[in-house]
Amino acid sequence: MSIEDVVRIHAKPSGEEGKKVGMDMNEHHYELWRWGLGHISIRPDSWILDVGCGGGRAVSILGDIVEAGKVYGIDHSPEMVELATVFNREAVERGHVTIIHSSVSELPFPDGMFDIVTAFETCYFWPDIVEDLKEVRRVLKDDGRVLIVNEMYEHASFEERNTPYNEVEGMNIFSARDYRELLEAAGFSSVEIDEVPENNWITIIAIK
Ligand SMILES: C[S@@+](CC[C@H](N)C(=O)[O-])C[C@H]1O[C@@H](n2cnc3c(N)ncnc32)[C@H](O)[C@@H]1O
Repeated sequence: MSIEDVVRIHAKPSGEEGKKVGMDMNEHHYELWRWGLGHISIRPDSWILDVGCGGGRAVSILGDIVEAGKVYGIDHSPEMVELATVFNREAVERGHVTIIHSSVSELPFPDGMFDIVTAFETCYFWPDIVEDLKEVRRVLKDDGRVLIVNEMYEHASFEERNTPYNEVEGMNIFSARDYRELLEAAGFSSVEIDEVPENNWITIIAIK
């Protein structure tokens, strides 16, 4: 598979191939989610939105944490909406989890609905990162937090691996400094960043 095809299928997993990628991501991203979620305290009554929820396993983990709250997942791929709904079937049926087909650019929620918005491995593909972060900020409560967790960020140690991906239209691999500036441009404050340079993992938390 070419790098262009890898980017395309992860940016919007479609068809049978996309469903397989969604199921694979449910396995391969588990350690990354766990690491990222270790950076944030989550109250059991929190309302959480997972943007770009893919196959829906991170939604399930979040649902287990917020037993007195609620989790929404959104994704712009109909196949991922279907997969995440099936993955969370029991929680969806009792209304604890809701999965919706939507773009990050136009979230179908009122202002100030969520305590936390999570974005795992998805910001690379957002069409207008600052405007989309503003949209995320809009649906957060005052003092609500955004948690961004990625397994690729611009860093000298991974330049050779990452550059070809960054050159594909539709994918942007940002540096830690970029994330700080982008979040601040979107109106967030108190940006905190943790990196594991040897893995090229990054977690960013910012407050509305
Ligand atoms: C690499 S996958 C990661 C999926 C999941 N968060 C995970 O960690 O396994 C990126 C996901 O973001 C979704 N996505 C990309 N751009 C999006 C956008 N503009 N609005 C909503 N979802 C988007 C894709 O459809 C895909 O499911």
